[in-house]
Amino acid sequence: MTAALKSPQRWIRTEIQALSAYHVPDPGKLVKLDAMENPYRWPAELVEQWLDRLRPLELNRYPDPGARDLSEKLRQIMQVPEGMQVLLGNGSDELIQMLALALAGPERVILSTDPTFVMYRLIAEVAGLGYRAVPLSADFSLDPEVTLSAIEQTQPVIVFLAYPNNPTGNLFDTAVVEEVIRAAPGLVVVDEAYAPFTDASFMSRLGEFPNLLVLRTVSKMGLAGLRLGLLAGPAEWLGEIDKTRLPYNINVLTQASAMFALQHKTMLDEQAQQIRSDRAKLAQSLRELDGVRPYPSEANFILFETPQGEADRVFAALKEQGVLVKNLSAAAGRLRDCLRVTVGKPTENQAFIDALQNTLKS
Ligand SMILES: Cc1ncc(COP(=O)(O)O)c(C=O)c1O
Repeated sequence: MTAALKSPQRWIRTEIQALSAYHVPDPGKLVKLDAMENPYRWPAELVEQWLDRLRPLELNRYPDPGARDLSEKLRQIMQVPEGMQVLLGNGSDELIQMLALALAGPERVILSTDPTFVMYRLIAEVAGLGYRAVPLSADFSLDPEVTLSAIEQTQPVIVFLAYPNNPTGNLFDTAVVEEVIRAAPGLVVVDEAYAPFTDASFMSRLGEFPNLLVLRTVSKMGLAGLRLGLLAGPAEWLGEIDKTRLPYNINVLTQASAMFALQHKTMLDEQAQQIRSDRAKLAQSLRELDGVRPYPSEANFILFETPQGEADRVFAALKEQGVLVKNLSAAAGRLRDCLRVTVGKPTENQAFIDALQNTLKS
């Protein structure tokens, strides 16, 4: 009796009990092409210089609570317009969470697209917000009519637009995004996690609309392990959202390591250029294979369709041959037959293509 009274089933919110935790598979020794990471490590001499930078750090002390030097460096690198404020997060995931916490309330809704980055929904549900997913068109574009009518109907407190979108890889039409920003009653967050792999951005448009914020991360740039994201926008919004931030959210090692890495930004830019040109080669190889259909991508991954009903089999066969990609078939709907491959090193991309070719033959 007492045990039942003190059980999690009684006390954990029902919407939390209904959630599945975000699952990250263990890659073991597989070629890891499932998580949109940059595949390149640093040259040995750079690793030594980085370690020299870490040695004098005082881990007994709290970090600079405002991460001021790092904020300044990120502003420059990400070309945040003059007069706009920035807020740093432990990954852009944490900034999405801070946004949700700041705007949560009864009957309030976050709106995004279907498909898109799964954390928007998960974080909305954890924060106690409603979530509305607007279906994308057949080519994964943003349908203005459907989107604007959903905005009208739900009056969302935040609209998240991943630009380029994950897992589809495409950019939405600029004019439609502008229409969404104008029509939205609350915030529109343009999430530019894949900015290193496209020339398109809304960063320079900040300040043009009172309700536009831009979200960035250093993860896809090659620093996923540091967990560092940036939210940019008008001070009136960011000052309020900052109140939901836990003190010292950017730790000492991240502050120092990110500063060091960003001082070597040319190397990261060269890696991004390499990934962009390898993306074109990988897309071409996929187009040449019978039975798969790749979608155009402005990100560091490619979504592709397998023969009908075959996604689980192809995923398992690739894994069997040592290559881990992302299986999206469980998402059902438009993604039922889809897998997503991250652009890796040329040898990794070739291993993937070889394995896929074998699989499609069998
Ligand atoms: C669209 C989008 N936004 C944000 C993130 C999270 O990035 P971070 O590593 O900064 O938390 C991802 C990660 O895959 C993503 O695809």
